[in-house]
Amino acid sequence: MKRNTPLVVGNWKMNPPTFVEARKIFVDIKKRVQKSTSTVVIAPPFPYLYEIGKARSRTNIKLAAQNMHHEQQGAHTGEVSPKMLRDTGADYVIIGHSERRAAGETDELVRKKIDTAVKAKLIPIVCVGESKRDQHGNFFSFVEGQLRAVLADRSTATVKKIVIAYEPIWAIGTGKHATTEDVEEMRLFIQKIISTLYDRATAGKVTVLYGGSVNADNCTELWQSGISGFLVGGASLRPAEFAAIVNVTETQL
Ligand code: PGA
Repeated sequence: MKRNTPLVVGNWKMNPPTFVEARKIFVDIKKRVQKSTSTVVIAPPFPYLYEIGKARSRTNIKLAAQNMHHEQQGAHTGEVSPKMLRDTGADYVIIGHSERRAAGETDELVRKKIDTAVKAKLIPIVCVGESKRDQHGNFFSFVEGQLRAVLADRSTATVKKIVIAYEPIWAIGTGKHATTEDVEEMRLFIQKIISTLYDRATAGKVTVLYGGSVNADNCTELWQSGISGFLVGGASLRPAEFAAIVNVTETQL
């Protein structure tokens, strides 16, 4: 299957502690990646979204939120709606990150969030991934279960808009990334599941990313796995390193 336009997403999580620092990191990233042919997306914490959105000025850098509520509005104290995110300039939203799933987010909630996001014209970046690998390949059934739970019985138009990020939990923030072979195998597996649920053409439109301890040293190797890009945590707060990762995705295989 043809690789989609490369996509690199920087997930800043609950960092950095002040907006002044956030702007500094962003301006540095912007200088380094503004001419990139890959799609670059930055996901800052909620309070920084609007200002970081404005700081993009005329660049092609896109904005993402790290989460959202599954309803468009209402009495949900402390929550943020997809429409509010659109209003800040966000085009993407990360849904079902394992750190959110660990805090109680279920497949059912992920499913609802995908629907609300698409209705609000946000592109969902849906995270899936196993907590550990076993020799019997049970992690494949685990990821298949997650994919079926959140993707089944949708319109192909909705599915084609979704980005899937394969993020094995054991690789997140640990410095231990999946091997290139493992990433390639899982990418093919994810595309096969989507083909089974829908068809080959739909599966081909879904962008599949890898995330989990991606850095400047391992990205060249991981890029050989045929994935369409990366979801980067820690390294996205280090502009030179993040730019190096973006750079690798501009190379044709
Ligand atoms: P990491 O995080 O790159 O720091 O491992 C990835 C993520 O959680 O999205």
